Amino acid sequence: MQEKFTREELLSVLDAAGIGGVTDVSRYGSGHINITFKVETSGGKRYILQRVNTDIFDEAPLKRNVMRVTEFLKKKGVKSLSVVAYDSPWRIYDFLEGYDSRDIAEEPRHAYDVARAFAKFQNDLADFPEPRLDDIIPKFHDTPDRLRQLDEAAKVDFEGRLAKVSSEMAFVDRWRPQASKIVDMMARGEIPERIAHNDTKINNVLTAPDGSAVVIDLDTTMPGSALFDFGDMVRTSSAAAAEDEKDLSKVYSKKDYFEALARGYLEGAKFLNDAEKENLAFAGRLSTFEVGIRFLADYLNGDKYFHTAYPEHNLVRARTQFKMVESMEAQRDEYEAIVRSLLK
Ligand SMILES: Nc1ncnc2c1ncn2[C@@H]1O[C@H](COP(=O)(O)OP(=O)(O)O)[C@@H](O)[C@H]1O
Ligand SMILES: [Mg+2]
Repeated sequence: MQEKFTREELLSVLDAAGIGGVTDVSRYGSGHINITFKVETSGGKRYILQRVNTDIFDEAPLKRNVMRVTEFLKKKGVKSLSVVAYDSPWRIYDFLEGYDSRDIAEEPRHAYDVARAFAKFQNDLADFPEPRLDDIIPKFHDTPDRLRQLDEAAKVDFEGRLAKVSSEMAFVDRWRPQASKIVDMMARGEIPERIAHNDTKINNVLTAPDGSAVVIDLDTTMPGSALFDFGDMVRTSSAAAAEDEKDLSKVYSKKDYFEALARGYLEGAKFLNDAEKENLAFAGRLSTFEVGIRFLADYLNGDKYFHTAYPEHNLVRARTQFKMVESMEAQRDEYEAIVRSLLK
């Protein structure tokens, strides 16, 4: 995707949206998907300008979903992104003033806040009207399909990389029997389809000093299981180390952060059925496993999907994810007990 834009190009996009008096346009935030700019104007009003990543997203359904979700939340009086203009692939939001965003949970309180925010987001969308939102990325959390893709990648075996990942592949094989659990339960109707955010990293929540929060980055908001949203929070916000930490002794899931996530989530997600509640801790393990096999597949494919900074980057990431899964497995009884005690 094109990464660099001239000031003239950016000003003309803003001008077409009726935004003049621009004093500054600069790259902003730490998102990895779209290209985001902060726009300052002489009147003091600020905007977020984004160039959507059209390599990943199908533009028309993406726009449709973002417009529908933001309009629905606005009508409900729920603070959300406010779309100023959307002329695909460009879109402009009002800058959400007075909020902070952070890249990692530095204390359990941050994990609690993020889980509460995403739970409320799912809650706010629980009565979203027909028609169903578009599947922006089909089969996004179809774990058996992700395994199939890994098996395909093993056949590609880019530069003989398969030989280097035998212990990771053995880990995957041990996990295979449980990988389809949520997908199967959804197929049987035991776990309902809901509207999920699908990118529940902490930097997709903006928080204000008064504790209020706004969920942003609605690109992957689409039908799915609530469980993967919670699972991905556990994967990202309970992790003791970065996703690409090479020293695996530093990589584990922090129990007090898991407790904070589960507490925040259960306080906000009033709609969960018993099957969902019973699988919250499992969802942490499964979501993390799933991301691990995606990194591993990309490594075997020759790094086609995720941006990498060095040749082993995707392998390093796959290893941290599998180490996180092992850590959650080692704490399985405690994590299950935490969820049970919060449900009492
Ligand atoms: N309306 C907004 N107001 C203030 N900051 C925003 C707004 N939208 C996005 N941001 C900031 O820009 C970052 C990247 O935006 P995001 O939509 O999450 O893009 P990406 O899909 O690349 O992650 C966010 O993490 C947040 O810090
Ligand atoms: Mg983001």
